[in-house]
Amino acid sequence: MAIRKIRVEGDPILYKTSKEVSAMTNRNRELIEDMLDTMYEANGVGLAAPQIGVLKRIVVIDVSEEGNEPMVLINPVIVEKDGEQTGSEGCLSVPGKHGIVTRAEHVICSALDENMKERKIEGTGLLARAIQHELDHLEGVIYTSKVEGDLMENGEED
Ligand code: NI
Repeated sequence: MAIRKIRVEGDPILYKTSKEVSAMTNRNRELIEDMLDTMYEANGVGLAAPQIGVLKRIVVIDVSEEGNEPMVLINPVIVEKDGEQTGSEGCLSVPGKHGIVTRAEHVICSALDENMKERKIEGTGLLARAIQHELDHLEGVIYTSKVEGDLMENGEED
């Protein structure tokens, strides 16, 4: 268990495409543990491996209020999406800022869990937004490229 350094906007690794994970190794298990530790420490609702400098298609998400429902998505793919939501979004790699982004309201995501078992995750609202945001990181995309209007400082009016 370890907290890893979160890469911030401007770091070249955040703009690269991550590679598929082919097997669950001790190294990957440790990576996932560290991703969860790092996300919780930073009070985030999601973190993608490239954000801690590892170009692997692994994402962790926890949108629960208590922060005790971690989801691990390996090689995730959105297989269905519909509807639309427009709302405020932030990112641990863009500290102190937020912006308005339009995303699908509902998604179904196919992924492997930490035991490399295939699962489907269905989400609406915040979970759907988090899935779409984190999967973008695996393609080297940061939400700031999708912001409508200006990026705002936290504390500033929307
Ligand atoms: Ni992010």
